[in-house]
Amino acid sequence: MSEVANMGDKVDLVINGGTIVSPDASYKASIAIKDGVIHAIGAPEAMPPATQILDATGLHILPGAIDVHVHFRDPGYPQKEDFASGTAAAAFGGVTTVFDMPNTLPTINNAEALADKHKIASAKAYVDYGLYAVLGEDSIEHVDALIDGGVIGFKLYMGNTFGRIPSPTTGAMLEAFEVVAPTGKRISLHAETNSIMERREARLRASGRIEPIAHLAARPAVVAVEAVARAAILAEWTGARIHVLHISSAAELQPLAEAKARGVDITGETCPQYLLLSEPDYEKFGGVVRVNPPVREKPNQQPLWNALMDGTIDVIATDHAPHAPDEKTRPDIWTVDCGFPGVETQMPLMLTEINKGRATINDYVRWSAESPAKIWGLYPRKGTLTVGSDADIAIVDLKREWTVDDAMIQSRAKISPWHGRKASALPIHTIVRGRFVMKDRILQEEARGTGQSVHAIQQMPPAMPANTDSTMAAITSVQKA
Ligand code: NCD
Ligand code: ZN
Repeated sequence: MSEVANMGDKVDLVINGGTIVSPDASYKASIAIKDGVIHAIGAPEAMPPATQILDATGLHILPGAIDVHVHFRDPGYPQKEDFASGTAAAAFGGVTTVFDMPNTLPTINNAEALADKHKIASAKAYVDYGLYAVLGEDSIEHVDALIDGGVIGFKLYMGNTFGRIPSPTTGAMLEAFEVVAPTGKRISLHAETNSIMERREARLRASGRIEPIAHLAARPAVVAVEAVARAAILAEWTGARIHVLHISSAAELQPLAEAKARGVDITGETCPQYLLLSEPDYEKFGGVVRVNPPVREKPNQQPLWNALMDGTIDVIATDHAPHAPDEKTRPDIWTVDCGFPGVETQMPLMLTEINKGRATINDYVRWSAESPAKIWGLYPRKGTLTVGSDADIAIVDLKREWTVDDAMIQSRAKISPWHGRKASALPIHTIVRGRFVMKDRILQEEARGTGQSVHAIQQMPPAMPANTDSTMAAITSVQKA
């Protein structure tokens, strides 16, 4: 394989000796990078002269991961994370683009809050990013202004979680979908139905249950199944594009697959915690493992892997949800903050499973980079290593034995159920648009503030057709009035 453009100019960086991984193939080749973009891929002797040469002998060269689900807590909760610590963690995890969730303080549900977050992110980010805005009852009217202000997509909380963002009624959800559908932007869903889990939780609390596993009892899979099915119906009706975040159960796969078969533009994501953790981890880690949706019974794991393999689930993301140690270790499970860090450990832990033969490394780059780029309209600028694409690269050692240690991670949240886990792969260098952000496991401080918002390069396909009726036209005119 050899692709070369404009030979003769001096390029910024040539990476020699590594194995390039695409969704279809792994092959030995050199990569030349110029002005932040991949300039040539081919035999080492075909590479142009370069200012810098990197020897990647024995290493694998992957498109940097695009983590479409992180909570970097900035502004609002600096004890948990900020945009610098969060994107530094991303850099150490081989992640070159993150999409940051809007449950910060203030909530990102209007143009002013969004503009403030853009300022914070652009000043601190080590990697590229997209910003989500909340789609809720009080932000439907701000959809156009939020899009003008630069969002990668919308986040809708069907169930309450950290930040106490109220979940919209089904009526408000339908309206919200009707308003967003014509814009073509995708709506990412926290698909857990609030009214089911609120009642369960109230009953468990009334009966005195405070131990960690009660959290799972409050959120049986039907909480998610009902939400996915209902969201899919509303998406089908309105033509809204939707993405189901953090799929945790085997049972959710049926409404997801059925909606896909009906032609709904619906995509799915799972996270390492649902593939790798299960019920016994509540005993082992106590409240540290508390996350929404909950880590579930082990029989859910293999169907989630199968769904990744057959394309029912499209994306691996992390729901990186950092909290401080004292916020994770309270004795009463209902007062423990939900979530834990993951942006930094996703790639090494998933590649460890690849090393065990659970899937190929080519599958992995499809889930971690190519699919997210395609789903959010960033492909082929992002998510692929091809001539002309951004040089967003993770260079990994697939033969590195190490053990996750909470004390050693970049995230401020030095507490997670990954602590003590053995891994056999490690990102060694991370490059964003041609610039090292992490090199030889060292953060490149001068890269702080070089991350850019990717909303400007997003190109969504035309809006999906809606199941049009008079309601839709009426509501749209109410919005515009
Ligand atoms: C997330 C958080 O802490 O912001 N927590 C979680 O348990 N997943 C919120 C969320 O994504 O639901
Ligand atoms: Zn969520």
